[in-house]
Amino acid sequence: MFVVEQRCPYLDLDGRDLEPATRHCWILHAGVIGAYLRIVPDGGELRRIGRVVTAPSARGQGLAARLVRHALTLTARPALLDAQSNLVGWYAALGFEPVGPEFVEDGIPHTPMRHP
Ligand SMILES: CC(C)(COP(=O)(O)OP(=O)(O)OC[C@H]1O[C@@H](n2cnc3c(N)ncnc32)[C@H](O)[C@@H]1OP(=O)(O)O)[C@@H](O)C(=O)NCCC(=O)NCCS
Repeated sequence: MFVVEQRCPYLDLDGRDLEPATRHCWILHAGVIGAYLRIVPDGGELRRIGRVVTAPSARGQGLAARLVRHALTLTARPALLDAQSNLVGWYAALGFEPVGPEFVEDGIPHTPMRHP
């Protein structure tokens, strides 16, 4: 999704998926993965949410919001993420707040956010 749909050739296989502490969360939708995210350790604790994504055919039904709320039951606080900046309002509705200046990564503006 990120590499093809968003035309962002970043290093998707960064090695963190296979770390023992990493948690992978998904919601099945019509028998396939409808939405996905991962949580990786940051500063020694499971607190960094990333790779938040919903299949195009399953968007706009609240799957990603449900998954982020679930992830927040698994993370240490503050939970952290780098939001694509057009989604800052969406993450704010889930309780996240911006904690730093916008930065551009792989051509896409991001804003660091945390959930206190
Ligand atoms: C962002 C994304 C995960 C949302 O998934 P979803 O399951 O549709 O999310 P929800 O149904 O819980 O919420 C939908 C809301 O997301 C917001 N949203 C989605 N894409 C957006 C965009 N490009 N810009 C701004 N808001 C957006 C809208 O507020 C939308 O509300 P609407 O249904 O009234 O239009 C999904 O659009 C996606 O996979 N996008 C591509 C990958 C991506 O950008 N991931 C985020 C990385 S930080």
